[in-house]
Amino acid sequence: MPEPDKEGKQFHQDIPMSKEGFFLKGCNSLDWGMKNRLARIFNPRSGRTVMLAVDHGYFQGPTTGLERIDLNIVPIAPYADTLMLTRGILRSTLPPSYNKGIVLRASGGPSILKELSDEYLALDMEDALRLNASALAVQVFIGGEYETRSVNNMTRLVDMGMRYGMPVLAVTAVGKDMNRDARYFRLACRMCAELGAAYVKTYYIPRGFDTVTASCPVPIVMAGGKKIPELDALTMAYNAIQEGASGVDMGRNIFQSATPVAMLKAVGKVVHEDMPPREAYEFFRETANQER
Ligand code: R5P
Repeated sequence: MPEPDKEGKQFHQDIPMSKEGFFLKGCNSLDWGMKNRLARIFNPRSGRTVMLAVDHGYFQGPTTGLERIDLNIVPIAPYADTLMLTRGILRSTLPPSYNKGIVLRASGGPSILKELSDEYLALDMEDALRLNASALAVQVFIGGEYETRSVNNMTRLVDMGMRYGMPVLAVTAVGKDMNRDARYFRLACRMCAELGAAYVKTYYIPRGFDTVTASCPVPIVMAGGKKIPELDALTMAYNAIQEGASGVDMGRNIFQSATPVAMLKAVGKVVHEDMPPREAYEFFRETANQER
């Protein structure tokens, strides 16, 4: 039996207990576990994140730069805040010693050869918990052929996530023929947030992106898109952050760069330190030269 404790005296009656709000927009009413998972994705100091998306294989197979994730991605993963990937790649290829945020792809079905909006949920919550995921990502095809089902995939995942403290990232997927303007993205992002997504991934648009972030009550991370020159990608990330994004989720603009670590570090400067794009590009070039 331990000796009975003599009650301490350090009650600090003069110091009120901290009642700080949570650092992420719109997330203060979430439960502790959910917030703790989000704090593994978003850096609590800057309130932002650099996510590295490598989940492309779930619908388009071994994408350029992702042919060998063990060789091309595992070594660069520690330079991002979070990895976005499938459970197949996680189990087969990512070392369990990886200790940063993990966002698991949770929807899927059609390949690039078919109608992409024809998705179902593709991951059970129990497996996501077993894999220690920090959040689950689901595509939402607003205006797409299977719009309602994709929204239903998201809301079912949100309900399961609420039960277990797992945040859901809604990814606004845009069909080839759809108009990528602020009106569309305001609609898509707001629907995702209203229906329970903890945060939303969406594309940057040069006009009106600030109205997309302003009208979405939860954090938005900017999607990367196809490979563009590094300066352009850094400029896009900078503009998105300055216009209210809480981070980026970039894939090809990182892993298809000739020097992906330099690019990740430069994006980190833009996201976490508000470094302007020209300066970030100079930083990228210097870092790239050291890496070569
Ligand atoms: C997009 O919907 C998927 O999640 C992609 O596989 C990935 O996130 C796209 O990344 P990026 O367009 O930056 O290469």
